[in-house]
Amino acid sequence: MDIMKIREDFPALKRYVWFQNGGVSMTPAPVAEEHIRLMRELLERGPMHIVYPEEENPRRKRTMDRLAGFFSVAPGEMGLMRGVSEAYQTVLRGLDWKAGDQILLTEEEEGSVLMPTLHLRELFGVEVVKVPLVDNIQSQVDAFASRITGRTRLVTFSHVTTDAGHRMPVREISQIARERGAFTFVDMAHSAGLYPMNLHEMGCDFAGILSYKWMYAPYAAGALYVRKERLNDLRVTYAGGRAEAWLDFKKDRFALKENVERFQYGPWSWPLVHAWFYSMNYLSRIGLDQIWSRTVVLTTRLKTGLKQIPGVRLMTPESPAMSAALVTFSLEGWDGFVLQDALRRRWNIVIKGFDNIRNGIRTSVPFFILEEEIDLLLKALGTLAKEGPGR
Ligand SMILES: Cc1ncc(COP(=O)(O)O)c(C=O)c1O
Repeated sequence: MDIMKIREDFPALKRYVWFQNGGVSMTPAPVAEEHIRLMRELLERGPMHIVYPEEENPRRKRTMDRLAGFFSVAPGEMGLMRGVSEAYQTVLRGLDWKAGDQILLTEEEEGSVLMPTLHLRELFGVEVVKVPLVDNIQSQVDAFASRITGRTRLVTFSHVTTDAGHRMPVREISQIARERGAFTFVDMAHSAGLYPMNLHEMGCDFAGILSYKWMYAPYAAGALYVRKERLNDLRVTYAGGRAEAWLDFKKDRFALKENVERFQYGPWSWPLVHAWFYSMNYLSRIGLDQIWSRTVVLTTRLKTGLKQIPGVRLMTPESPAMSAALVTFSLEGWDGFVLQDALRRRWNIVIKGFDNIRNGIRTSVPFFILEEEIDLLLKALGTLAKEGPGR
C-alpha cells in the first residue's frame, strides 16, 4: 500500500491532522469526482431514470448488487435507506410491541439507536435494558446472555461502540439471542469498510449500514440488511411508492415487493448512491485486508504510546479483536472538550471530545494516517499532561 499516493486522494489532509474520520469521513478524490461527474451528467442529460431508464435502471441494480456483495449477502437482503437511523426505525416499527417487552442495548449506543428506542419506551411501555461494555469477549457475551429473558424481543448493539470503540462479538451474541427467541439488530456505522465482512456468517437478523464513515462515500446514504428468513417477521409500516411490486390505480389494489425492497422509502440522491458504488471499488482496490492490517498497526502504536503518558486512561480494549479504528481515552484533570480545543488550537489536530456516559477524547484512525501523525498526537498529549488543564 502506497500511503503517500493514497494521501493525494485526500487533499484536505494538508490542512490539519485528521483524527475525526468517525464523525464524517473525507471523500477520496476518485469518489468525489465520480459524484461530480454524475451530477454533471444530470445537468447535461437530464433526470436519468426519466430520460434514459435503459441506462439508469441497470446502473441502480448494479449499485445495489455491489452493496449486497460487499457484505456477502444476497441482493434481495440489502435495501437502500437514508442511514442507520432509518434502518433501525424500519425494524423497530416493523415489530409489534406491548408493555413489558424488553430491548437490550449496550450502555453506549449512539443517538440514532438510543433515541428511537427511548421513544418506543414512551409509546408502548417497552423496557430498555442496558448491557455494560466489558473488555473480554466471553465476559461481553455473558453480559448479554445474563440479561436476555423470556420478554426480550430485540437485542440491539453497535458492532463497534461509538465512543469507547468496543467491538462486539456479533456471532456469539446473535447465536444466544436466537436460541432465546430474540432478534438482533447490529449498527455497523463503525465497522463497515474496515475489513471483509460476511453478514450471513455473523448471524445477526438485521443490520444498519451507512456510507459516510469507514466506507468513504459522501454524506449520506445507508442500507438495511434483513436476513432472508426474517423478511416475513417484519411488517412494512411505512409503505411508500418505492415499495410497490405493482399498484393498480383504478382498482386501488397493490402488492409489495417480495424482498427487502418493500421497506425502501426514499427518495434518494442516486448520484450520491452511485458514488458509494465507487467508494466500495476504491476500498476493494486498496484491499480490505490491507486496510485492516494497517489499522491494527496504527491503533496499536497509538495505544502503546498512550499507556506511557501519565494520567491517560485507555477506554478502548487493547486487543484488535475487541476494537477497530477508534481509540478512546481520558487524560486526568482534563474535560474531553477542553482537550479537543487545546489539540486543535495548538497542534492543528482535529479530534473528537465527548461527554456522554463517559468523558474523554475519541481518536479515529483512518488507514492513511502517518505514524508521525500518531506520534505528534502522543507528544501533544505528553505536553498537556505535564502542563495540566490550567492553561
Ligand atoms: C454508532 C453510530 N451509529 C449511527 C450513527 C449515525 O447514523 P445515521 O446513519 O442515521 O446518520 C453514528 C454517527 O455518528 C454512529 O456513531
